[in-house]
Amino acid sequence: MEPTQSPPPIVLTPATQGDAEFLYSLWDKTARTASFSGGPRDLDCHVQWLKDTLADPNRHVFVATERGIAVGAARLDVFDVGRWATVSLNVAPAHRRRGIGVAILRALEAEARELKIETLRAEMKLDNVSSQGAFTVAGYGPPEWSLGSGSRCLMLRRL
Ligand SMILES: CC(C)(COP(=O)(O)OP(=O)(O)OC[C@H]1O[C@@H](n2cnc3c(N)ncnc32)[C@H](O)[C@@H]1OP(=O)(O)O)[C@@H](O)C(=O)NCCC(=O)NCCS
Repeated sequence: MEPTQSPPPIVLTPATQGDAEFLYSLWDKTARTASFSGGPRDLDCHVQWLKDTLADPNRHVFVATERGIAVGAARLDVFDVGRWATVSLNVAPAHRRRGIGVAILRALEAEARELKIETLRAEMKLDNVSSQGAFTVAGYGPPEWSLGSGSRCLMLRRL
């Protein structure tokens, strides 16, 4: 029998402007390919995006740390007076495939409940199997494939 591994001990902390460079470092080629927008053009654009985002009461950005080391980030965009929110997730390239993505999604549920959110919604490209895998393990889904142009799918989790 394989040894049971404990999930990574993830702590979520609300992002500040000082996290801009770390958040920008998450945008490697894989993350840009996965993103519908392609990601920020450069660090200056990202700094401005973060400033605008932090000023928006319906957007909540979290930095995920594992034993004090920043390993990823997640964002909740709240709609319809807090009943549901879209989830964005990014794990630092060096830390992918270690269970961090799933651990972030689990920790994010507590934050969502605090915000009185009832449904979490993730949208991703059809070919983003790593994302679909992480959201599935975290209890989302199953993927619904019939959205828009057909190049994206949607996964939901009711809290
Ligand atoms: C998608 C992403 C967040 C997953 O995070 P992660 O920490 O690497 O994922 P986990 O280690 O928690 O993986 C959980 C499960 O997802 C699936 N999975 C994750 N990465 C995978 C990969 N590269 N290929 C196939 N399945 C994968 C597996 O089922 C995995 O479980 P297993 O390792 O026990 O087989 C990460 O790859 C990432 O940041 N990608 C770039 C940005 C992105 O795609 N964000 C999501 C947009 S909606």
